[in-house]
Amino acid sequence: VVRGFSSSALRPAVIKHVMIIGGGQMGAGIAQVAASTGHSVTLVDTSEEILNKSVKGIEGSLKRVVKKKFADKPEAGAEFIHKVLQSLSTSTHAESVIQSSDLVVEAIVENLKVKQEIFGRLDKLAPQHTIFASNTSSLPIADIASSTSRLDRFGGLHFFNPVPMMKLVEVIATPATSQETFDSLLNFSKVLGKTPVSCKDTPGFIVNRLLVPYMLEAVRLYERGHGSKEDIDIAMKLGAGYPMGPFELSDYVGLDTIKFIIDGWCEKDPGNPLFKSSEMLNKLVRLLQV
Ligand code: 3HC
Repeated sequence: VVRGFSSSALRPAVIKHVMIIGGGQMGAGIAQVAASTGHSVTLVDTSEEILNKSVKGIEGSLKRVVKKKFADKPEAGAEFIHKVLQSLSTSTHAESVIQSSDLVVEAIVENLKVKQEIFGRLDKLAPQHTIFASNTSSLPIADIASSTSRLDRFGGLHFFNPVPMMKLVEVIATPATSQETFDSLLNFSKVLGKTPVSCKDTPGFIVNRLLVPYMLEAVRLYERGHGSKEDIDIAMKLGAGYPMGPFELSDYVGLDTIKFIIDGWCEKDPGNPLFKSSEMLNKLVRLLQV
């Protein structure tokens, strides 16, 4: 059958039940947006304590959304929050939720082995039609998918912080991702109210490939003594129209995340000057870890 022509077998699957793995900022944000757009969502993490914190964060963010969206109708706003929270459940046991999941979105720590282990385990229990997706910032989707037997039903869904505000989703296809899976992920992103762009499985996809070297070059510019941190931030905000300067944004994304991304790329392509680390960044992350 030719792709793109109507056939029920090729129609992208409708995604209703979503499991999000990882209750951090990204996972909670994705869960919030999915629950706000008619999906039934289960947020999974390792402890009730983490999940309680995630739900508190979601409640706080929903209040901010509602304050704007239902500015003149506080009752409708309260009803909206109630409905969203009803569509959201939590679990510390992914295995008991997987049977009813159409889509699994993983947003945990950037550790290939841990991601592979979770997906490998769930792959054995998941229904045939279930699509797996990773929100990784910098790891190859194909490497994560390799621990499963559903390479055709595996892709990337890369969101941006803060997820409720940022309109973009990068949808990543590996060479093995089927057209149906890709279309399902694209449709899902649109139903979330986001604008999807199509990406290849290359380091940093589109946004991080441009943004991370830019943030690193801001640090190097400062290290060379060519500008103060404050002036660099002001310059990029007022001169280039960025909502945050590179230092403010680096703090927002997390210095440890930026270091992790750049170190990973540098290891694979040490000669690339875009992937060169910074002594100051390394020092700051070391200090943060003490
Ligand atoms: N939830 C809900 N609403 C939110 C929100 C959240 N988490 N954050 C902001 N808002 C809304 C609220 O309505 C808020 O009003 P309120 O303070 O009265 O509640 C309104 O936005 C304005 O927020 P702020 O006054 O705090 O500040 P800004 O106007 O600057 O907007 C911002 C905040 C949207 C974060 C903006 O500064 C921005 O776009 N910054 C750049 C973010 C960015 O580049 N993100 C991408 C990072 S890279 C990434 O995520 C990829 C990863 O792989 C590394």
